[in-house]
Amino acid sequence: MKLSHESIEINAGLMIVLTLIAISIGGLVEIVPLYYIKDTIEKVDGVRPYTPLEQRGRDIYIREGCYTCHSQMIRPFRDEHMRYGHYSLAAESKYDHPFQWGSKRTGPDLGRVGRKYSNAWHTQHLNNPRDVVPESIMPNYPWLLRNELDYADVADRMRALKVVGVPYSETEEEYLANVDQFGATMAEQFDINRAELSLLAQAQSEDWDGDRSRLTEMDALVAYLQVLGTMVDFTQYDEGYFAEFR
Ligand code: HEC
Repeated sequence: MKLSHESIEINAGLMIVLTLIAISIGGLVEIVPLYYIKDTIEKVDGVRPYTPLEQRGRDIYIREGCYTCHSQMIRPFRDEHMRYGHYSLAAESKYDHPFQWGSKRTGPDLGRVGRKYSNAWHTQHLNNPRDVVPESIMPNYPWLLRNELDYADVADRMRALKVVGVPYSETEEEYLANVDQFGATMAEQFDINRAELSLLAQAQSEDWDGDRSRLTEMDALVAYLQVLGTMVDFTQYDEGYFAEFR
């Protein structure tokens, strides 16, 4: 007997089986190529993993739930480009586990907030946003200045990130591969065995929270905010349509 459309529609079991087959084929066609195309995420110069200090700042960002009001994903629309800068590239969040994209913007997108303000501005703003933006509805985070930064487990945190693909190094071989890819100064910072040392060195390198004598959670969070969106030099790429807004 010929299988007419009607006989499929009145037979729930057959309908379910055929629907599943149709969806599986569609799924395979969409998903499988992503595993084989090498440049699903295009390589972009300048993008590097976070240093241990920035990484601890990122942990605090997630702990405090900053993502509930802030996205880190600038969409390729003219208005967003004019407000925030170049739209976010996939490669820019390739070391973000978990990523901080999203569409919940009670506050502005932070994808390119790095170096937009001074360290002192961020410290004051996080301590009490209304000190610098009188109409702000952002909560105060005064404990960030009081809490000493706990970095005892920073090496373990980097090991965990390595499992999901961040190229932190533990062996000489991995270290040398990082030197090739990111340069010697950066590769030092991705060395899990020296994680605490490089965290302390970076904390000392700049006056993040206005007090060099202590290492606080504010130091780490400001170091993280200041790197957001600054890794890629867009003057190399920005030509044509978007260049006119620079
Ligand atoms: C209840 C929502 C809310 C939460 C939670 C929140 N923010 Fe905000 N944030 C805002 C709003 C609204 C603004 C805009 C007004 C202002 O600048 O204070 C803002 C502004 C900012 C800015 C300035 C952005 C710019 O381009 O001017 C930064 C940086 C920032 N927030 C960081 C953070 C961090 C870090 C956290 C977590 C510790 C956080 N925010 C948590 C709502 C929030």
